[in-house]
Amino acid sequence: MTYEEKKFIIPELDGISAKSVEEHLGLYAGYVKNFNAVTALAGKLMKDDAAGNALAVAELMRRRSFEFGGMRLHEYYFAQFEDGAKPLTDTSFESAIKAQYGEVENLIQEVRQVALMRGPGWSILYYDPQAKQFLVGFSEEQHQGHFVALPIILALDVWEHAFLLDYGAQGKAKYVEAFFKNLNWGVLEARFASMPR
Ligand SMILES: [Fe+2]
Repeated sequence: MTYEEKKFIIPELDGISAKSVEEHLGLYAGYVKNFNAVTALAGKLMKDDAAGNALAVAELMRRRSFEFGGMRLHEYYFAQFEDGAKPLTDTSFESAIKAQYGEVENLIQEVRQVALMRGPGWSILYYDPQAKQFLVGFSEEQHQGHFVALPIILALDVWEHAFLLDYGAQGKAKYVEAFFKNLNWGVLEARFASMPR
């Protein structure tokens, strides 16, 4: 089965230009396209000559999760801007955050701090339904560093392509502030509501 590029209706954002969003959506489309291409090629090579193509297939399979991560993380990311900025309103989500972090701002600060780590990647808020707690993590590239199988509540892209156009190579902190300014917390609430608890 091939994956389809999802379409996102993103309003004018405050501090993240339409041009930057457009370029970024183009990169997302590339991940979808490459995931499908890697999948097809690996399948063909295995079918043609599994033993003879073993090394090529191994590298493709390593590459495949990178492409998948890039595809899926960007889908989490862009969905967070749809319908524009919305405040936190859901009491169960807010209660769960406050039970663990005291204040919502403390959680935001942790996500921000992880986002400002050196190097490209993603600052990600996960929820662990077993332990009933949130975890903030950093995924280098797209596929590494994840907490295995934990569902994602928030995905903040901090690759340079996310902010270079608007803020320059040293503008990550300003971009992170713009990200939170435009965040639709309703999307996060819906994700949290769908978690098994
Ligand atoms: Fe990105």
